[in-house]
Amino acid sequence: MYLGLDLGTSGLKGVIIDEKGNVLAQESASLSTSSPFPTWSEQDPLSWWQACVDVIAQLQQRFDLAKLKAVGLSGQMHGATLLDKGGNVLRPCILWNDGRSQTQCQALMEEYPDLIERSGNLAMSGFTAPKIRWVQENEPDIFEKLAFVLLPKDYIAYRLTGFMSSDCSDASGTLWLNPETRQWDDVLLAATGLSQSNMPKVYEGCALVGELSTNVANELGLPKLPLVAGAGDNAAGAVGMGVTNPEQGFISLGTSGVYFTVSESHKANPQNTVHAFCHALPNRWHQMGVTLSAANSLAWFAKLVNKTVPELLDSLEESDVQKTNVVFLPYLNGERTPHNDPLANGQFVGLVNSSSREEMTLAILEGVAFSLLDCQNALMSAGSKVNELSLIGGGARSAMWRQIIANVLEKRLIYRDGGDVGPGLGAARLASLGEQQSQGKDIEWLIKEYCTMPEVLETHEPDATMAEYYQKKYVLFQKLYQSTHMLNVELMALSSV
Ligand code: XUL
Repeated sequence: MYLGLDLGTSGLKGVIIDEKGNVLAQESASLSTSSPFPTWSEQDPLSWWQACVDVIAQLQQRFDLAKLKAVGLSGQMHGATLLDKGGNVLRPCILWNDGRSQTQCQALMEEYPDLIERSGNLAMSGFTAPKIRWVQENEPDIFEKLAFVLLPKDYIAYRLTGFMSSDCSDASGTLWLNPETRQWDDVLLAATGLSQSNMPKVYEGCALVGELSTNVANELGLPKLPLVAGAGDNAAGAVGMGVTNPEQGFISLGTSGVYFTVSESHKANPQNTVHAFCHALPNRWHQMGVTLSAANSLAWFAKLVNKTVPELLDSLEESDVQKTNVVFLPYLNGERTPHNDPLANGQFVGLVNSSSREEMTLAILEGVAFSLLDCQNALMSAGSKVNELSLIGGGARSAMWRQIIANVLEKRLIYRDGGDVGPGLGAARLASLGEQQSQGKDIEWLIKEYCTMPEVLETHEPDATMAEYYQKKYVLFQKLYQSTHMLNVELMALSSV
């Protein structure tokens, strides 16, 4: 058996697979996010560790974890976890959907004109490096004590083993990695006052990085298991869905929404706000478009109207609402692809006295689908190719949402077994790959054998009768952002009046 631990934004999930790769169990513990100021998004790293302890205890009750052979990790990307020289957490982690560092992004790109070429990416707020510059400028006492920066899942690895490690898929999202060499870039690190001594060693996702320390193994009641480096949650999701070769892709409907495609080399396309990162498997890269509030938009609305997400979706399905004049812009946390605008904000437009909750729910599902179409357009203009896409993430459990996305993207979408545990499954698969590779098995053979596409549960073909409605509505969706985004700065300024 192998264990995958996926540190998401809304919770930490543990997934156990058997030797053949079948999912045996999953357990989770929820996490909360704080937003003390507009555009900020933070989490306490100690709450991640507590969630990890809780999930392992839950799994312990159902399985004999002494039979585990290795552990793999997956995690929300880009978070800046700041540690002092004793490994103590210095401040709450600044998360991937935090937009405070826009000024620092601009300054970095102006002062280091080769930053884009070296990192293969635009400096976007949410990425790790600009956040460290923000800390340097705004919290100098903390910056002074800063000895190490870890990505969220790498903090869990550190707590498990006592050693610091990272993997090149997650490290790509820091802006300190050169994705072509798959190693830290000294010039990029120096741009934020850091050097390799502040960073963990970078490994391939399936490489063994150490084993559980004796204390932690005793505390958790586990054997001294080997740990693999793991992956950023999107690359891990790709491993889980068997998306490992060029022209394969998937869509993730988690807190964020992601359109992910694999490439055979590093294909930078910063002008279209495409993220061009290393894949979690050797000799592979990927491109992705990222919309910052996907399932989060629905969760936000559900909380607002005092319903659960399933209740909202059920009442929409039971109603006869299939089209609506209401439009929703899902920019509750700003937006990366295609606007790179941390100040973009969410909007409902077209409300009238008769607008119903069901129409507003539908507008949210459509708005997120339009953002994914923005991502598809950015990726296609960056040369990505993909014929059909798998779907992962909590939001993908809704067949109605999957169909709306197929209609909007005009692409065949496939929902597969394990789609709801995608990154956790990928983390467990990486553990299996790493453990078997250490027995001398060839990695390419292992990838072919174990990173297969799970069984198809449902295929969604685009519905041609809806094409005209969605094409027209997408034009309006785009115009709404274009014609209102200049107001965002003034709207933000109101909070200080
Ligand atoms: C990717 C990104 C998000 C997080 C969510 O660039 O910011 O998908 O990884 O966990």
